[in-house]
Amino acid sequence: MPQSKNKLPAKPLPHLSIAVLVCLALGAPPSLVIAADSSFLEFPIGFSWCAATAAHQIEGQNTQSDWWQWESVSGHIQNADRSGNACDGWNKLQEDIGLLHNMAVKTYRFSIEWAKIEPQPGIWDEKVIAHYQQEIDRLHAVGIEPLVTLQHFTLPVWVAQKGGWEWADMPKAFAHYANYVYSRLHGVRDWITINEPMVVIYNGYHEGTFPPGQKRELVGLVPPMLGMLKAHALAYHTLHTEAEHSHKEIRVGIAHHLRYIHALHSYNPLDLLAAHFASEAWNWVFMDAVESGRFKMWVPLQFSAKEDLLGLAGTEDFIGINYYSEDTVRFSHGGFETGVPVELEKNDMGWAISPRGLAWVLEQVTDRYRKKSIFITENGIADRSDLKRTKFIHDHLVVLHEAIARGILVEGYCYWSLMDNFEWANGFWPRFGLFEVDYKTEQRVPRPSVKYFTEAAKRNGIDSALKQ
Ligand code: BGC
Repeated sequence: MPQSKNKLPAKPLPHLSIAVLVCLALGAPPSLVIAADSSFLEFPIGFSWCAATAAHQIEGQNTQSDWWQWESVSGHIQNADRSGNACDGWNKLQEDIGLLHNMAVKTYRFSIEWAKIEPQPGIWDEKVIAHYQQEIDRLHAVGIEPLVTLQHFTLPVWVAQKGGWEWADMPKAFAHYANYVYSRLHGVRDWITINEPMVVIYNGYHEGTFPPGQKRELVGLVPPMLGMLKAHALAYHTLHTEAEHSHKEIRVGIAHHLRYIHALHSYNPLDLLAAHFASEAWNWVFMDAVESGRFKMWVPLQFSAKEDLLGLAGTEDFIGINYYSEDTVRFSHGGFETGVPVELEKNDMGWAISPRGLAWVLEQVTDRYRKKSIFITENGIADRSDLKRTKFIHDHLVVLHEAIARGILVEGYCYWSLMDNFEWANGFWPRFGLFEVDYKTEQRVPRPSVKYFTEAAKRNGIDSALKQ
């Protein structure tokens, strides 16, 4: 959590339910049905192999967004980088869809940019929405389903100026945007309203590394969290109402950033307690609220907050999980301190590589929100050399396969990211891409790991042992 990253009723897909039912009927553990032979780990039919990106990180020229302004202030972004043209994704649409097509993915997760669509209140840019429709049509033309995120970290400047997530009319404005987008974009079944609420909250209002750049005590996180929950709920209902009017089936979720958070010393009750509270605050407070409709946050010796939010309960048709890493927590000075597990290998940014953490996250989510279908909306590694990426993907896929075999409903996996891109406060140096981007020429160069991921997508599975 926080320190390593600068961050503190579903409709399960039929194939998964059927696979599990068949197992139960045969009295066999699901793995016997899912795995065709012992060395090939086959994923369920219809499993969504996916790659992910976000608009601000790849498109370029997001001039009407709060991030564009934020980047212009010295000290905000490492190496004084600016997103600028980013990967020029706006102009390289066809080329990038070609990459996805060659990778044989079934789904492409990308975001659309509110600041470009509605650069001024109530002024909608037709050219922009036409561009996104073209993107969707071109994806469909090569058999790829879009998974569209409405808000991935950025806000239009005009929204930020009114107070962003704390603006009283934010839920209305966000739902209005969602409504406009839904009425204009055709061919999208799956939507994500907000990407990583807790990252925005923690980085933006506690650490001050994201806009609006505030450094509040934890109690100060409650108002923007409530604002976000309300905005999500209203957008959820707006999208569903519109879909019903047009007799379309859609699904709406959130992409949550979940981490394996545990005590540094499992024999120390104070560390255990501290880890419990850290994990509650980071992983579950927001998600519990979305599921139950009740926001409840308690930080011992500091504050407790409780509020019932009308229309919020059950506003997730699937659970999106962005999973990257694990953290240790120890009790310190009446609070807690997070750290990186020393024994684990690290990525270029010093984040621990922890497939076991994915297993923990999947178990937790399933225990808490039974029967909800899960989509891994992001999982990836900053690894410029590409020496660790293939193993990283492999090890996480093995965990995923095991989880599915145990009956956990995971319907898809998005690798983050299709290509290197603008890594927010870190600028351009971290390299998450399956494709390397040469920022001088904007050329995309495949890294060796693309081959592994493509094979996995084509075969709908992986060999249990990695041949390297
Ligand atoms: C975000 C991405 C980001 C990735 C790697 C996730 O938290 O959704 O936008 O690039 O992590 O830092």
